[in-house]
Amino acid sequence: MILPRNSHPMPFRFLTLGLTFLSTAAFAQDALTKKTVRLAETQATTMLQELPKAIAQKSVAAGKPPLVSPRSLTPTGELIVVPSRDWTSGFFPGYLWFLYELSGQPRWMAEAKTYTANIEPEKTNGGTHDMGFKVYCSFGTGYRLTKDAAYKDVILQSARTLSTRFYPKVGTLLSWDHSREKWAFPVIIDNMMNLELLFAATKLSGDSSFYKIAVSHANTTMHNHFRPDYSSYHVVDYDSATGKVVKRTTHQGAANESAWARGQGWALYGYTMCYRETRNKAYLAQAENVARFILNHPNLPKDLIPYWDFNAPGLPNEPRDASAGALIASALYELSTFSPNGKLYRAKADKMVKSLAKSYVAQPGGSRGFLLLHSTGAKPSNSEIDVPLSYADYYFMEALVRRQSLLNGKGIPGL
Ligand code: GLY
Repeated sequence: MILPRNSHPMPFRFLTLGLTFLSTAAFAQDALTKKTVRLAETQATTMLQELPKAIAQKSVAAGKPPLVSPRSLTPTGELIVVPSRDWTSGFFPGYLWFLYELSGQPRWMAEAKTYTANIEPEKTNGGTHDMGFKVYCSFGTGYRLTKDAAYKDVILQSARTLSTRFYPKVGTLLSWDHSREKWAFPVIIDNMMNLELLFAATKLSGDSSFYKIAVSHANTTMHNHFRPDYSSYHVVDYDSATGKVVKRTTHQGAANESAWARGQGWALYGYTMCYRETRNKAYLAQAENVARFILNHPNLPKDLIPYWDFNAPGLPNEPRDASAGALIASALYELSTFSPNGKLYRAKADKMVKSLAKSYVAQPGGSRGFLLLHSTGAKPSNSEIDVPLSYADYYFMEALVRRQSLLNGKGIPGL
């Protein structure tokens, strides 16, 4: 049932065998990668100075979990730091792993290990679907690069915890426990991303129960979350007793019937990943249909970095969402390896990465160490508008890793 993946094509295995003398980039890199990695190292150095200061300044009440990872900046430019239970906690550790992967510098591996360890308490937190964001981006990326058995244990425990949120009657994981006054059984398109942790758990353990949950969730979501044009709703609310759809709404989009940009990115990435893990052609077709919606949309700007919602009411005077751009670029690189349209997808991803690297990056040493500017978290809640976000940086670095690997004639790195 489980298909073999390309093993990591780059020579990092040598690094993890203890040959840590390699102090320069461990594989051929083009000018864009080199320049962006240099900036990412400067930014990570800044962040690692800013983060302890910001954490020390915030008082955490006794018994409350510690603050561990950066998430964004306040409108006045202060660092927003979060405890491990926040859905964004795994992105900074993952960013550090990518930085290690791209630079070959052992320093970043040491930092990645430290910040990854902070996320471990989440392995038993069954209160949300966000387990993949938290644990797969940190421990999963770390496991790919180190094959550390302790990381594997954390991934498996996290998958067991996430599985407790699966409801056979609906056929999906339950995304949120909060906002019960609005939704009885909310499933959000973002939830597709957390299936990667379940697929990984089956590969690492041989226990197919995780795989089956992931496939059920992906199939149910494919059936219920999409409009005829293959744009995705954000939140689908189910009747947990019958499994029937109660309503289709939004939380972070401009309107229930709009196409929230990051949601389209989660859908594209999610079904591309599901195809990688299952080779089910229906997932590939779904990913290609979503890609077509995004890439042919008349409101997609010329630089290919989306506005925060494809149907935002004030276009073109609306903020962009660089996190959606980075996420879509990363997904398109992987999709390009599966499809006869691969050349087009790769060219579009290249354009997005070039746009981000040219016009969306922070000044060296600025923005408290974030790499990308101009993301939007939740415009309808007036929250995190036109700011750096840790997940924009994470998916941008992942896109860089994938782009460079393809340039070197290798596949997409995976478990
Ligand atoms: N998963 C939450 C978001 O995309 O903002």
